[in-house]
Amino acid sequence: MSSIFITFEGGEGSGKSTQIHRLAAQLKEQGRDVLITREPGGTAEAEAIRTLLVSGDVARWTAKSEALLNYAAREQHLEQVIRPALAGGKTVLCDRFMDSTRAYQGYAGGCDLGFIDALEKAIVGITRPDLTLVFDLNPAIGLARARSRGDAHAEDRYERKGLAFHQQLREGFLDILRKEPKRCRLVDAAQDIEAVAEDVWSIVKGAL
Ligand code: TMP
Repeated sequence: MSSIFITFEGGEGSGKSTQIHRLAAQLKEQGRDVLITREPGGTAEAEAIRTLLVSGDVARWTAKSEALLNYAAREQHLEQVIRPALAGGKTVLCDRFMDSTRAYQGYAGGCDLGFIDALEKAIVGITRPDLTLVFDLNPAIGLARARSRGDAHAEDRYERKGLAFHQQLREGFLDILRKEPKRCRLVDAAQDIEAVAEDVWSIVKGAL
């Protein structure tokens, strides 16, 4: 079976991590060799960078530094994990990827979008996702869900950025969807888990 690269994007508490595992199970049933990975992370070095980004004082990095840190992690992840997996015919499901940098550091964080375009071109290059699912949810609901999870206390730096940041983030993801409607598909994450899973499966089936 041919390789496929699918990314999961969206704000906090949108349920994408639950859905990535459900989709992986369905794709495995079809005989696909599936790799689940995440960003920032996916290699030991990229996970070390993740710790710098997701913990500590909310204002510790400028948006430009965050973009560079995420792209350093992404370069490691692409070279050591994603490209070899795709070359080996795997189906790669990635929890966040380049659109998170555009939405979090660009649209919400105020980092120049031209700078992010340049990083994307230099580091991602032709390894763009075949399909991107954008989980859309009112950020007030998403943040409440994320806080009630209570399992990621040390990883809540972005959750602490405040509602206005998360509203801009949502608008950013919606703008990305408008600009790349062939690659990016909206998932209504306000629905219950089963309904979201059905939507995800119907989008992915259509794309395969
Ligand atoms: P997670 O919540 O999906 O585990 O992701 C970790 C956090 O990192 C999340 O708050 C979003 C943020 N992030 C960015 O700000 N820029 C990026 O490029 C990526 C991949 C994640």
